[in-house]
Amino acid sequence: MEAIQIAIDGPAGAGKSTIAKELAYRLDYTYIDTGAMYRALTYAVLKENVKIDDIPQILEVTRNTEMSFKKGNIFINDILVNNEVRSIVVSQNVSYIARIPEIREILVDIQRRIASNQNVVMDGRDIGTKVLPDAKLKIFLTASVEERANRRYSELILKGLDVNLNDIKEEIITRDKMDEERSCSPLKAADDSIKIDTTDKTVEEVIRQIIFLLNERI
Ligand code: DC
Repeated sequence: MEAIQIAIDGPAGAGKSTIAKELAYRLDYTYIDTGAMYRALTYAVLKENVKIDDIPQILEVTRNTEMSFKKGNIFINDILVNNEVRSIVVSQNVSYIARIPEIREILVDIQRRIASNQNVVMDGRDIGTKVLPDAKLKIFLTASVEERANRRYSELILKGLDVNLNDIKEEIITRDKMDEERSCSPLKAADDSIKIDTTDKTVEEVIRQIIFLLNERI
């Protein structure tokens, strides 16, 4: 039977991972967080003290880094790095790594391979436009920047991190701008995607809407 692919794209903090994870759980599909792959690589690069614009060295780190994703956990060379990859410093640097075409090529290849033989919900920035252009359903999630910053802030505070709301808002604006303006696979809604503004919606409402849309297509 043909694997069913659901692509969920959108800017930072629009609720992609919360929605995608819960959706995958309810449908019994595999959840793939592609942002975590770019983040894991960024963490590895920073840890090796490689400069964020030193492409040959970044590619070298990429070749020597073993990333694995098991049951929502992220491992680099077998070490659990769930919290580290969500740190502010990784968030501030990840878009520099994500704009390198050679890096994107390697990660897109891995993402496509994972999605080739199982049902998946995959979230990111270029899933509908580049990674899975034939996905059964493409969703583009948005929300106001204030709402997105508030959500990220609450998430990090809950984790016990000492963060400032304004810094988070600035970080989100800067990151979106870089992700939208890069030349290779920028953040963009696919022409055949369905846009959902989550600003005033609950997670449950968004999930139900997506399941409704999926049921219309399968
Ligand atoms: O979804 P996230 O915030 O964890 O993603 C972190 C960064 O990774 C994001 O700012 C841009 C990059 N990214 C990307 O370029 N392409 C993807 N498919 C997913 C993430």
